[in-house]
Amino acid sequence: MTQTFTPRVFSGIQPSGGLTLGNYLGAIKRFVDMQDDGHFETVYCMVDLHAITVWQNPENLRRNTRELCAGFIAAGIDPEKSILFNQSQVPEHAQLAWIFNCVARMGWMKRMTQWKDKAGKNSENASLGLFGYPALMAADILIYHATHVPVGEDQKQHLELTRDIAAKFNNDFGIEFFPITEPVIEGVATRVMSLRDGLKKMSKSDPSDMSRLNMTDDADAIVKKIKKAKTDSDPLPDHLEGLDGRPEARNLVNIYAALNDATTQSVIDEFSGQLFGGFKPKLAELAVEKLAPISSEMSRLMEDTSEIDKILIRGAERGRELAAPILQKTYDIVGMLR
Ligand code: TYM
Repeated sequence: MTQTFTPRVFSGIQPSGGLTLGNYLGAIKRFVDMQDDGHFETVYCMVDLHAITVWQNPENLRRNTRELCAGFIAAGIDPEKSILFNQSQVPEHAQLAWIFNCVARMGWMKRMTQWKDKAGKNSENASLGLFGYPALMAADILIYHATHVPVGEDQKQHLELTRDIAAKFNNDFGIEFFPITEPVIEGVATRVMSLRDGLKKMSKSDPSDMSRLNMTDDADAIVKKIKKAKTDSDPLPDHLEGLDGRPEARNLVNIYAALNDATTQSVIDEFSGQLFGGFKPKLAELAVEKLAPISSEMSRLMEDTSEIDKILIRGAERGRELAAPILQKTYDIVGMLR
């Protein structure tokens, strides 16, 4: 018998530094759309257990977790409509991750490009948690029986592994218990690139602050970074193929489109023939209009962190209401005593 699953969205973000424009356009903005769509139950999480797979200063981790929560809310996540919480406050994630550590295979983990990139040549010295990272991610998703997971392009391989873990569990125990989750990697901003190098992903861990827009940047910083963004000296083309081989140009056009809820084609139609000297001020103006209110709302929310802590406690309670019965059922399937 085929089990039908409630349409439910899960996604998470690491509180391992400030939020970037990549996180906003590739993730949070789309989380808001799925929340407001009305078709799904939406569950969003600050994944602090993932963050500590590499060293985090405890004070910074606490601050970043609260700031990330403020970022979610300032960008439009409503803690009444969505379940918004911090991963370590719902212990079922770590409990299910242990079961998945026993389902996933070493060979699967070794193939993960994020593992290879992050552990690099020094893999003997990387934490065991970093190696097992994707099993915890599968647990995040499957502890809610989530059916859809909006993420940026860089998470695609992890979501394929989540499907493999669900399928192997179902197959090993001969029961269709976990859903085979759909990754949702859509829109023009699933891979926002660095402002300094159009071939590199925009990332909070890039040593150059000029490579990214941070969600805490004020209007002056936004304008300055866009003005200094790397570009070429050709005018904007009149058709999409004209962006081929021009990664920096393509990136800025995509950012404009994503901020404006428009298509890349419509941006090309509007600006074709113009040089970056004309396009950049328009992009900066749009970025300030869209991002500055989020940044100021984040600072306002951070003035009273006790409110944020209350939201997280309530979110964790709601998360546990969904997660606890699914964990119990998993334990029963595996053969653990009650
Ligand atoms: P993290 O914290 O690195 O990033 C959070 C989300 O932001 C997206 N993202 C980007 N999208 C477009 N362009 C960029 N430059 C860019 N940079 C980041 C990421 O794709 C992601 O969607 N492993 C995850 C966190 C996680 C998770 C989960 C996600 C833990 N458990 C379960 C989904 C479901 C991560 O490190 O994301």
